[in-house]
Amino acid sequence: MEVLRVLVAVGVLHLCLVVGSDQDNDSLLAFLHRNNEDPVTTERMLRKTGHVSPFQDPCYVDVAPPAGDDVPCGEGLCRCRHTVANCSFRTAKVSYVPKLPSSVTELFFTHNTLLSIDRDDFFQNVTDIEFLDLSFNYLTYVSPGAFRHLKKLKTLILIAHYMTYDTLAPVLSITTLTFLDISYSVTGRLGTPPDDLFHRYPLVHLETICLRYVGISHLNMAVFRPLGRLRNVQLTGNLLNDETLHTDFLPQLTGSIVLTENSFTQFLETCRGGVSLLPNLTWLDLSTNPLKALLKNHWMSSFAYTSICLPGLKYLSLWDTYLTEVEKDTFSQKAFPSLEILSLRGNNMLTMAGQFAFQNPSLQAFSLQSCGIDFAADIVHAECFAGCPNMVAIFLQNNDFRDVTEDKFNRLFRQVTRLGVLSLTSTRIGDIKAGMFTNFTSLQVLRLNVNRLTEIPDGVFSTGTASECK
Ligand SMILES: *[C@@H]1O[C@H](CO)[C@@H](O)[C@H](O)[C@H]1NC(C)=O
Ligand SMILES: *[C@@H]1O[C@H](CO)[C@@H](O)[C@H](O)[C@H]1NC(C)=O
Ligand SMILES: *[C@@H]1O[C@H](CO)[C@@H](O)[C@H](O)[C@H]1NC(C)=O
Ligand SMILES: *[C@@H]1O[C@H](CO)[C@@H](O)[C@H](O)[C@H]1NC(C)=O
Ligand SMILES: *[C@@H]1O[C@H](CO)[C@@H](O)[C@H](O)[C@H]1NC(C)=O
Repeated sequence: MEVLRVLVAVGVLHLCLVVGSDQDNDSLLAFLHRNNEDPVTTERMLRKTGHVSPFQDPCYVDVAPPAGDDVPCGEGLCRCRHTVANCSFRTAKVSYVPKLPSSVTELFFTHNTLLSIDRDDFFQNVTDIEFLDLSFNYLTYVSPGAFRHLKKLKTLILIAHYMTYDTLAPVLSITTLTFLDISYSVTGRLGTPPDDLFHRYPLVHLETICLRYVGISHLNMAVFRPLGRLRNVQLTGNLLNDETLHTDFLPQLTGSIVLTENSFTQFLETCRGGVSLLPNLTWLDLSTNPLKALLKNHWMSSFAYTSICLPGLKYLSLWDTYLTEVEKDTFSQKAFPSLEILSLRGNNMLTMAGQFAFQNPSLQAFSLQSCGIDFAADIVHAECFAGCPNMVAIFLQNNDFRDVTEDKFNRLFRQVTRLGVLSLTSTRIGDIKAGMFTNFTSLQVLRLNVNRLTEIPDGVFSTGTASECK
């Protein structure tokens, strides 16, 4: 049985097609299924978050409280729903924390322009909270004992402030914290953490530290060594480059390092004496850095594997990095033995003139979204996707497939035999030839919306069973 739902809107055909069975239990597809009823929605979700990755930014906090109506609470100054109290954005600024229901464990207290918390008993009415958001209060000062009553506090978000590492002492002394976001230092005055900062404040439970846009101009990552449980470091939007960031042996980093919007032109130093400095890191994000010069350094050479030591890295994000060429073995298994998901989105000078450009048996998904690549041109080798036997998802939306011949199309995808998800959204495809999809035996999601299709020849999608179409 085949289900094809075709929507024609203003001469542009939006088509969605789902074929194949649900039996593939490859980890990424398993993920797609586990986290969502249907892979189409998941794919949409993945695209929405920008990453072709099941991971959110480590500092992203989903603030949407559970469904239900809020009721006024705290002398009518706040709204409460389940365990969440929202005292943010009140028309009359809230200048103290009123008495709240004892069920409250999460407190939003943002945008009240507090400027300072100068009373040690400021949080006396909410001693049981585990989550506190104090963002956009432009704090310059916090009384030394202000957080002392919050014995259960795990998450503290303090975005947009005028604090320094000295005035942050009361925050850095909250030993129960697992998540700390002190991003957006107004005027960038927070800057580089002093070398001994976490010797002085050993946050033994801290898993995630967010230091986005705080004006860090140089950083020796050894500063994080005392944080034995630290998994994620978010350093977006600082002033770091190849010379000013020094990596260090941090085996505890099992999550991510995010370095987007800095000025790196090279890959990080990840080896020292042949030993990995970051043996357990799973996600590295170097997006929005001018890495184009990578071409000239070791990483792009065939000796890459001698200088990259990231044995656990599964997700590598390199969007908007001005990369110009993916040569054979750039992402080889020797360099990246565990790499599963690679995003090269927005590298709009990219060429893949060689065969096996992405060759790596561990690769399961990659994105070339919005690279403006003309797949008909010689700069794209017809076998550039070869050598990836485990690839299950390829995202090619916003590229140009207009003049790709049936033969080149077949050669491009012929060897990616396990492909389950393929996005060709907005790729200027004008027509589909009868033989184009005959060998896509594992395909579950094919996105062809926002193209110039007017008809689909009979028999194109004869393989498999169409299971769903939205
Ligand atoms: C997929 O599931 C089948 C049946 O549960 C199992 O035998 C097989 O080993 C699984 N394959 C993978 C790659 O997990
Ligand atoms: C808190 O309330 C304000 C004002 O109604 C609203 O804009 C904001 O989104 C709410 N925050 C949360 C986390 O629900
Ligand atoms: C605690 O709540 C009560 C009632 O809302 C309020 O009068 C009092 O000022 C609050 N205490 C502090 C320390 O803010
Ligand atoms: C990280 O990897 C090392 C091996 O390099 C291992 O000994 C250690 O237990 C790992 N640490 C964590 C936190 O997983
Ligand atoms: C499909 O696969 C078969 C068997 O591997 C092969 O003979 C045939 O040429 C392929 N068709 C296309 C269009 O690539």
